[in-house]
Amino acid sequence: KEQTIFDHFNRPLRDLRISVTDKCNFRCSYCMPAEIFGPDYPFLKREELLSFEEIVRLTEIFVHSLGVQKIRITGGEPLMRRNLQDLIRMINEIDGLDDIAMTTNGSLLPKYAEELKEAGLKRVSISLDSLSDEIFGKINGRGVTVQTVLDGIDAAARAGIKVKINMVVKRGMNENEIIPMAKFFREKGHILRFIEYMDVGNTNQWKLDEVYPKKQIIEDINAVMPLEPIDPNYTGEVASRYRYVGSNDEIGVISSVSDAFCSSCNRARLSASGMLYTCLFSSKGHDIREPLRSDLSDDELTTLLQNVWSGRKDRYSEERSVASKHRKKIEMSHIGG
Ligand code: GTP
Ligand code: 5AD
Ligand code: SF4
Ligand code: SF4
Repeated sequence: KEQTIFDHFNRPLRDLRISVTDKCNFRCSYCMPAEIFGPDYPFLKREELLSFEEIVRLTEIFVHSLGVQKIRITGGEPLMRRNLQDLIRMINEIDGLDDIAMTTNGSLLPKYAEELKEAGLKRVSISLDSLSDEIFGKINGRGVTVQTVLDGIDAAARAGIKVKINMVVKRGMNENEIIPMAKFFREKGHILRFIEYMDVGNTNQWKLDEVYPKKQIIEDINAVMPLEPIDPNYTGEVASRYRYVGSNDEIGVISSVSDAFCSSCNRARLSASGMLYTCLFSSKGHDIREPLRSDLSDDELTTLLQNVWSGRKDRYSEERSVASKHRKKIEMSHIGG
């Protein structure tokens, strides 16, 4: 039995993104700037995290009674959570789910790719913003080398996990890396997606003029390797797809700022501490952990979750230009993008 729940704007729920930790071994300037996420930063404590059993119970309800078809594991860096492969295996056993993906910085994939594949992970999105150690080391805030991530990419591909690459583009940071990255990953045979720099969280000092818009990205690449648009793979796909003319090699652009896609947004986000967010830019989440740890039945939990989704009115990216600068937002490291 599958039940679709629609929100206030008639958008179904299809995609659940589950954050399993708020920790990360990187300190990307646009996500967890080192000055703020320092040694004393109050990361979540063990007992605050949802257990694997709690996550699976919720996921079952989402899949069986709310129409979720797609699960994505995120962080922080999800591979910082111990025994993550066990969670993947448990989620993979849920009836009626055919897509389990993960968003990761790739650094720990050489260690875990094989067991993740074996546990049932189908796809990974790996973040890489530059092919230059100097630029990338500065962006990730920890001097991590490009090769570290490339090794992770290769490990995942070798294990038989489908790989996509995510590159955040920020003006003044890495727009000159667009072409080298496009060439490199076309050659390698992995889909590269360019993400417009977004005003997520409260700490990255986002400015509109630092956004390098989709139109510009496409123009830059098109001048060197001609592109043509192609249709989405599914309704509500975040990336707009393009292919290099005369081939099947493709790229994507995620244009949350210059061309918002809220009208088809079917995503909910569960934080590692059990807060449910109905937008990447939510000011406030819904606590699910407390009810989960009281003695609510599955039916009662189902009703609670259905009510959250049916009341949803979020469309932040479409309202950005008029939203208050002082509005508080959830940190990216709590909901994994
Ligand atoms: P596929 O399932 O392969 O289509 O992946 P995906 O694009 O859904 O997942 P991924 O985690 O790779 O998404 C890439 C990035 O797009 C995220 O990290 C976010 O930065 C951005 N993104 C994803 N969903 C949303 C959304 O609902 N709103 C906004 N503004 N950005 C999003
Ligand atoms: N703007 C755009 N993308 C971001 N990501 C993290 N912070 C931002 C931001 N401010 C991306 C990461 C990764 C995914 C989790 O989200 O690079 O690909
Ligand atoms: Fe970590 Fe990803 Fe955030 Fe970078 S973008 S700090 S790798 S969670
Ligand atoms: Fe969905 Fe919010 Fe992103 Fe719009 S801004 S696409 S509503 S997550």
